[in-house]
Amino acid sequence: PPTARPRVSFLGCGYLGATYAICFAEMGYEVIGYDIDQAKIDAFNGGTVPFHENGLPEMLRRNLDTGRLRFTTDIEEVADFADVHFICVGTPQRPGEHGADLSYIESAVTSLARHLTRKVLVVGKSTVPVGTASWVQELLDRHTDGDLGVEVGWSPEFLQESNALNDVLRPNRVVYAARSEWGLDQLRATHQGILELAALEDREVPVVETDFATAELVKVAANAFLSTKISFINAMADLCETTGGDVASLARAIGYDQRIGNKFLRAGIGFGGGCLPKDLRALSARAEELGVGDSFHFLNEIDTINTRRRTKSVRAIAELAERPAGPAGPNLEGVRVAVLGVTFKPDTDDVRDSAALTIARKLAAARAEVVVYDPEGVDNARVAAPELKYVKSLADAVEGADVVSMLVPWEEFRILDPDTLGKQVSERRVFDAMNALEPARWRAAGWEYRGVGRG
Ligand code: UGA
Repeated sequence: PPTARPRVSFLGCGYLGATYAICFAEMGYEVIGYDIDQAKIDAFNGGTVPFHENGLPEMLRRNLDTGRLRFTTDIEEVADFADVHFICVGTPQRPGEHGADLSYIESAVTSLARHLTRKVLVVGKSTVPVGTASWVQELLDRHTDGDLGVEVGWSPEFLQESNALNDVLRPNRVVYAARSEWGLDQLRATHQGILELAALEDREVPVVETDFATAELVKVAANAFLSTKISFINAMADLCETTGGDVASLARAIGYDQRIGNKFLRAGIGFGGGCLPKDLRALSARAEELGVGDSFHFLNEIDTINTRRRTKSVRAIAELAERPAGPAGPNLEGVRVAVLGVTFKPDTDDVRDSAALTIARKLAAARAEVVVYDPEGVDNARVAAPELKYVKSLADAVEGADVVSMLVPWEEFRILDPDTLGKQVSERRVFDAMNALEPARWRAAGWEYRGVGRG
């Protein structure tokens, strides 16, 4: 690895910080990952990734072996080690409110600042309300010796769980801001590895050097735009359902227009996860605070359309089970529902704000006998929703089911053979919540098939 590269730290070893730390070591940087959770740090140092992300454990072990990567709970060690520190802690939704909770940023920056003994760059990566960078600079000024001249930088991240390694190593753009040429140089040097890899692979990565407000806003703008696409197609799904249209063909047809694009137009149970829902609400709350709330009221509607998908899905399952909802909602007593998938999307074990898990809980609240199977998410789901019944195999979930609800399109479910599955269930009824199955094939095998926005 080139010696000119700055030594980097990542504060907060959740999904974001850990993935970045490991990928930066992979690119040849000397890296330290920091977290206050000793168990998590021990896991990483022992070669174990405490969440599910394909390819990450192997990359972790490979880089621990090179000696370029280590993890610690000792902030003094971090302050001493790195030239550029990335803040990667969570910014969850404040309980009972829509704004973001910045207390983890405050404690990470403050404790780091107190131990700094030389000029370094502290770069925000967490998703934050616009205006946070200058507040971080104030924290740094207050808690460091002013003569050090420690500076803030900002560089949002766009990694998607289940595609995280690729998103860090091969991002579709890099965005950053700093307040001085020195700060920009540090940021250029920390992104050099990404640009070198791109050059090796004959790709180009656009770099957007910008001001702080823009760097902060790019992230929330991107997430709000993605959410809008999803709610838009879900609204169209409603229209397709009442008119006999097919939302999947519609999405494909509009997606051929490159101004629209064919991604993020899959109708279904709506968006969940630790990012899109909370970022949408935080943007709307921040716009309100800044006096431009009027322009963002549509985001509240995007949110409402999204959460409505969850109740609509329960209603669809009830109709399939021939138990349409009465005034008090559906009564599914005596109906056995196999729930396939409870994570917020496939290829992750994350159940934060998972639409599928919410639907499973709503079904149970409507007195259905819910049996849940998920390839990776059961441990986390059990903590979030202990009232549900979980099984270890798909076969156990579908045995004797009156309705099979495929809520998350894991590969394992998409390749199911309707004939084989039909022999295990009590009734051949399937709710294909993300339109991932072939209706004709399932109907031919004697299944009553219901998708979303399909006639
Ligand atoms: C999202 C963004 O896609 C990332 O770019 C961003 O960096 C990240 O949030 C973040 O803020 O850190 P992620 O939460 O991992 O990434 O998940 P997505 O792949 O965006 O999916 C979000 C939700 O939308 C999932 O529940 C997914 O099932 C749903 N979705 C996605 C749809 O319902 N339809 C689609 O067409 C696409």
